[in-house]
Order: sequence, then structure tokens, then C-alpha cells
Amino acid sequence: MDDLQPLLDGQLRYYRARAPEYDEVYAERSFRSLTGLVDDLPVGGDVLELACGTGQWTVRLARAGRSRSLTAVDGAPEMLGIARGRLEAEGLTATFEEADLFTWRPSRRYDTVFFAFWLSHVPPARFAAFWAMLADAVAGGGRVVFVDTDAGERASERAAPGGRDTVLRRLRDGSEHEVVKLFHDAAGLAAELAKLGWTAQVDPTGEGFIKGVATLTDRSARD
Ligand SMILES: C[S@@+](CC[C@H](N)C(=O)[O-])C[C@H]1O[C@@H](n2cnc3c(N)ncnc32)[C@H](O)[C@@H]1O
Repeated sequence: MDDLQPLLDGQLRYYRARAPEYDEVYAERSFRSLTGLVDDLPVGGDVLELACGTGQWTVRLARAGRSRSLTAVDGAPEMLGIARGRLEAEGLTATFEEADLFTWRPSRRYDTVFFAFWLSHVPPARFAAFWAMLADAVAGGGRVVFVDTDAGERASERAAPGGRDTVLRRLRDGSEHEVVKLFHDAAGLAAELAKLGWTAQVDPTGEGFIKGVATLTDRSARD
């Protein structure tokens, strides 16, 4: 256990507690049609979704034509329960797995690895290890596709004291939680990924989000 572990454990506890109210964010104007982004992203083949949450993106990924198979992983059983129900309601299927993404290792490779609003919760000290794990998850010719918060949105959150790339979030019951939140800017993120052997195209969507597509060009760079 390193000194980040309590923070990461707290982050997962926060999302477990937030699961019943998580979908409220998707009712906000900027989020309402956001998952439609998937239709313009290179998603296909055997797809792995990390940190699937309540399945807002999972349903998009599962719809006909988007994927041959779909596996969705999250650390919160409460999130997975909602995601399962969301897919069932639409007659869609996916394989769900409960796992801690900071220790999880893929047992096979996928054509597409997708995650939305997860990268911003990976602390800098775990960033390289996370992308090394992705290198083992993505098939030759495959890609990592992601969506996240744009750097310009920093002011929309309350920074936690201590300057650890964390913010304070409040749940409906009034409880406060410290979570990791990195506000990656598109160009900086692409440059960081290049150092790890990835070629990434990262672009702001213009509505407070970024979208990225990364392919592994140099497996040796991560060693
Ligand atoms: C910001 S939400 C994103 C959910 C979904 N991708 C979306 O965009 O709506 C972050 C997700 O990460 C999950 N999570 C947090 N810590 C985790 C961990 N250590 N391992 C796996 N999942 C984790 C939470 O349960 C939550 O579903």
C-alpha cells in the first residue's frame, strides 16, 4: 500500500455511495446528448469499457453495429447493478466485471478499450502504470478511446486543500468526499502519452469535454 491508497479507497467509496444519484449529471444540459459522441469515435470489435458506472456509455457501446462483444468493468457493485438494469431494459447484453482498476489486469486483448470520465480520476503517480496496463489490454491494431473533462472546467469544482490534484464533492446526504480530479488539456495529454509510446489524437469537444483516440506505437517506451 502506498500513501495514495487511502485516497483511492475513499474515491471508490464515494462512487459507491453516489451510484443512486449519479445519473442526475446526465440530465444536465451539457451531458444530455454527450454519449452520442460514441457514434463518431472509432469503437468496434471486441470492446472493453473501464469504469462503466451506471452504463450511460455502455448502452451506446452495446447497440447494434458498435461492438462484436462488450465487457464492462467497474469497482462499485452499486454502479454495476444500475448498468445491468439499463442494458436489460433495452434488451442489450454485456459481460460485467467488478474489479479495482488500480490492480486489475486484463486476461485477454480487445480491439477497443473505452473509458469516459475515468482518466481524470487516475492520479499522476498511477498514470504510467495505468497506460502500461492498457498496453496489455489492447490488441495489435487496436485503440484506446476516451472522453473526459476539459482543462477549462477546473473552475467548476472545489479544489481540496493540500494541492494533491483532488477536489471536494458533496452527496445529497451532505457528506463530503475528496476525489482525484485531473483537468488534462488536450495537447498536454497527447504529449504525455507520446512519452509512454502512444500516438494520441486528443481534441476538445468545445463543450467542456475532451475526446481522445490512442494507439500504441512503441511498446518499448513503457519499460
Ligand atoms: C466519473 S464515474 C464514470 C462513470 C461512467 N464511465 C460515466 O462516464 O458515466 C467513475 C467511475 O469509476 C468507478 N471507480 C472508482 N474507483 C474505481 C476503482 N478503483 N476501480 C474501478 N472502478 C472505480 C466508479 O465506481 C465510477 O463508476
